[in-house]
Amino acid sequence: MDKEQAAIRIQALRKELDRHNYQYYVLDSPVISDAEYDRLLRELEGLEAAYPEFITSDSPTRRIGAKPLDAFSTVSHTMPMLSLANAMSAEEVIDFDKRVKKLLNVSAVEYVMEVKIDGLAVELVYEKGLFILGSTRGDGYSGEDITQNLRTIRSIPMKLMDNQGIPIPERLEVRGEVYIGKREFEELNRKRGEAGEPLFANPRNAGSGTVRQLDSRITAGRKLNIFCYAPGQIIGAAIETHLQFLDYLKKWGFRVNEYAHPCKDVGEVIDYYHHIEALREQILYEIDGTVIKVNRFDYQAHLGAVSRSPRWAIAYKFEAQEETTVIEDIIVGVGRTGALTPVAVLKPVAVGGVEVSRATLHNEDEIRRKGIMIGDTVIVRRAGDVIPEVVKAIEEKRTGSEIPFVMPIACPVCGEKAVRPSGEAITRCVNINCPAQIKGSIEHFASKRAMDIDGLGVKLIEQMVDKNIIKDVSDLYFLTKEVLMGLERMADKSAQNIVDAITASAKRPFNRFIYGLGIRNVGEHISGLLAERYRDMDHLSSATEEELVAIPEIGPEVAGSITAFFKDEKNTETIRRILQKVEIEHTKRDKKELEGLTFVFTGTLSALAREEARKRVEELGAKTAPSVSKKVDYVVAGAEAGSKLDKARGLGLKILTEEEFMALLQKPLSSHNPG
Ligand code: IVH
Repeated sequence: MDKEQAAIRIQALRKELDRHNYQYYVLDSPVISDAEYDRLLRELEGLEAAYPEFITSDSPTRRIGAKPLDAFSTVSHTMPMLSLANAMSAEEVIDFDKRVKKLLNVSAVEYVMEVKIDGLAVELVYEKGLFILGSTRGDGYSGEDITQNLRTIRSIPMKLMDNQGIPIPERLEVRGEVYIGKREFEELNRKRGEAGEPLFANPRNAGSGTVRQLDSRITAGRKLNIFCYAPGQIIGAAIETHLQFLDYLKKWGFRVNEYAHPCKDVGEVIDYYHHIEALREQILYEIDGTVIKVNRFDYQAHLGAVSRSPRWAIAYKFEAQEETTVIEDIIVGVGRTGALTPVAVLKPVAVGGVEVSRATLHNEDEIRRKGIMIGDTVIVRRAGDVIPEVVKAIEEKRTGSEIPFVMPIACPVCGEKAVRPSGEAITRCVNINCPAQIKGSIEHFASKRAMDIDGLGVKLIEQMVDKNIIKDVSDLYFLTKEVLMGLERMADKSAQNIVDAITASAKRPFNRFIYGLGIRNVGEHISGLLAERYRDMDHLSSATEEELVAIPEIGPEVAGSITAFFKDEKNTETIRRILQKVEIEHTKRDKKELEGLTFVFTGTLSALAREEARKRVEELGAKTAPSVSKKVDYVVAGAEAGSKLDKARGLGLKILTEEEFMALLQKPLSSHNPG
């Protein structure tokens, strides 16, 4: 190949590789295999090595990092990078909306809502379509030149795409958030733990630590990503609204967040916030709220900024999930499986509006991995319904008086031996009659998601086990009011209530009964699968391992625990006694019962959280939408339902009250043809 041919081939390869980069990293839908991509990249590397005069800074081969820098140089931003004012409640958002309308002297304003990504703000500068400079936000006026590091992020275009007549501006400044995904963060910390390196406290710290590496080859080795969401200076393209800007960004090849959503009024804004809040856990990267932006650019310009925040945008934040506190002690709890679990006793602290005084530490290895000692100042985290967790110790706060934790060699409840089998992380009490195990299994059986025995709480179970009134769950069904009345704080009425609740629990669906048994490795989901496959306890208890592994999603480990459970005579005897009193319901809901229907939630539901409501309809095959449109079938209106309800009425959609909705979840609709 002569020089001229090489130049042509280099051009073609770059174009091809850029396209595949875009498919893979921006659209998340690769069209060639990794091996094929590598082959093209290697061919380009070979040609560039042979003809170094053709190397350009925007070549796909330049994404692997370059020589380490001694320091970052400083760049000033053409336009200051502002920060956002925060709103913490719907009232504050309503005030924001009023202020905006008043300043603009209009009665209606359209907003665009986005998720607030918890990462690091950066600016990307393109001249004549080429990426020439990338910087951190810094103090808003000037930041650090991190161009080399940003080149390693594959979803940042090195060259703007020429697309459908969209102009390539003379100069384009784009702002966005660099972040590291939740899964990638876990993976990074896992590797660091194994290498004995200090852990990052959260994805945000990991992201900002990575993007500010002087050695860009380290940056290249970690999976950073970006979402672009705001303009800086633009010369040579006229854009009128934020939505249009986002559309242009996509067409130029930038990665834009999928949750950007127009809202007609403040009611829709608040509803969308709740919609995003419900999705938070399942979103693959950390978000700490939403951002509300006035859509029209002329309105934005008119509104301007005060101090360092624009008046046309506000962050509507979730309550914080992380706080700092002190570990006063580490105690060891014993669960229903006999597992000894270290629990941190914390100086009480409010996290996300809930007071936290205990946090699980999982097991010995986890404590060592996180480097936690008694007396440490730590970061605690609470997310959704999840048990609070200690994220890590803040080593800089150590005084030298901290005490390392040692796992006890005897069960703290019954005093029998506690063993940790080699190769396992969990230490267990060996005594199957350990009161902690008995209490734990009864608590589990009676819990909401299992047999849901109202009023049968921890205190009562403890008393009954300690006084030998019950020895396993089957004894519950033989309890009498008279026996209960002999217990502390049990009057005639409360004893009767407990007996009634136990009787009522006798009619739970089969899957919940299976779940309640607490078979190791059998959670709610597997219980559901088993209930679908087996008609009754007789059939389930005689299932063989081969038969069980034939069920999709059930592997040999789960199958083994199920057969082992039913081989144990103590268990079969317990079940036999329960079945004398319990009538298990075998009718199951059709998974596809609500298929094809779309639900929207508005207002506050009292019986269950929105997220839970959403999950329940999705389990029955329905979809949920954030806002009302003609495509929506049912609008569930809770208390203080907002503008969505008015809109739904306007469109003549079927509206359900909370009671009607709950009834629908309980039993099938006669017809799913609304309206
Ligand atoms: S817009 C003038 N949109 O939040 C408004 N910011 O305190 C410029 N952020 O520095 C920012 N997600 O780091 C905007 N969708 C989003 C965002 C977002 C996260 C960050 C950004 C900014 C900070 C504002």
